[in-house]
Amino acid sequence: MPRTIFAGTGYYVPDRVVTNRDLTQLMDTSDEWIVERTGIQERRWVDPGMTSAEMARRASLMALEEAGLEASAVDAIVLATLTPDVFFPGTGVFLQRALGLEGVPALDIRAQCSGFVYGLSVADAWIRCGQFRTILLVGVEIQSTGLDVSTQGRDLAVLFGDGAGAAVLTAGEDAGRGVLSTHIHADGRFAESLWAEASSSKKNPRISADDIAAGRHYPRMEGKEVFKHAVTRMPEAIHEALAANDLTTSDIDLLVPHQANLRISQMVQKRLGLEDRQVVNNIERYGNTTAATIPIALAEAIREGRLKRGDLLALVAFGSGFTWGSALVRW
Ligand code: COA
Repeated sequence: MPRTIFAGTGYYVPDRVVTNRDLTQLMDTSDEWIVERTGIQERRWVDPGMTSAEMARRASLMALEEAGLEASAVDAIVLATLTPDVFFPGTGVFLQRALGLEGVPALDIRAQCSGFVYGLSVADAWIRCGQFRTILLVGVEIQSTGLDVSTQGRDLAVLFGDGAGAAVLTAGEDAGRGVLSTHIHADGRFAESLWAEASSSKKNPRISADDIAAGRHYPRMEGKEVFKHAVTRMPEAIHEALAANDLTTSDIDLLVPHQANLRISQMVQKRLGLEDRQVVNNIERYGNTTAATIPIALAEAIREGRLKRGDLLALVAFGSGFTWGSALVRW
């Protein structure tokens, strides 16, 4: 049975840097509060006109270049986002069109911050069962256009950034290499703990002046609830993956956690007994870019030489839904 190999990774972040100090011009917050509670120093926000599909295209081209492949080698696209360019169709088809891949299937994944791990789970199954041999897996997010940047929305507005990350996954025959397992979960009892209620197909029209006046088109979050579950579910998902592969935490060489909050990643690190050098953090520069965080962090870690052949890589995510999951990869 073929194994899923990461043949190339890439990322794109907008040029516009928004510092914590910039946010103090918009809302009642401070650099100290944001750094202390989240570790974030700055994030990237798009300029008008940028689309999720275009950011995805740029990240994808970088990943294809690293893989040494032309876009025409791609058999399928899996794209994770909670901020599609339009209500429908999914962003995957816009990326497919931009890459000139007519006829190639494009699947959008709606699993929020866990989208990349969910997408990896699907892509890995497709590769192992032989349905596709080269899959472009992308996580992309434009959060900035949907945030309440007034003091009322400050709890969320300071957290999120924009960006895209991509991986080219190929079928490999070397049994000692590739994705070892993926484990994904959800618990819809907490769907409203982090959500955006409008626009909604439950209502006609789907968004009203009332919705906008009440701010229902902005994301809402019960921050403490999310924090509590994240620091439990992420270590749990890693332990589940290790147990399934007869491995232990001491076998992990590098952990790329979803970048939700530096304090969350530090607690996950502590619970797993890992050292600083074994955990990738880039939240201080990008904030939480939702489905894009893991592929951006992974692409950066590779470029910094933090992974070598044979290393055990662990990916772990948690997010709105709640959804969570993990993956182990023998590099
Ligand atoms: N700047 C300044 N003050 C802020 C603020 C901001 N950006 N956001 C909230 N506050 C205020 C609150 O209004 C509150 O004030 P009050 O005590 O006068 O009512 C105070 O800070 C404490 O708020 P609280 O929400 O209790 O803070 P917290 O310690 O829970 O930290 C988060 C808030 C958002 C940083 C934290 O809950 C968190 O990180 N949660 C997880 C978020 C996450 O990961 N989301 C994505 C999941 S994928």
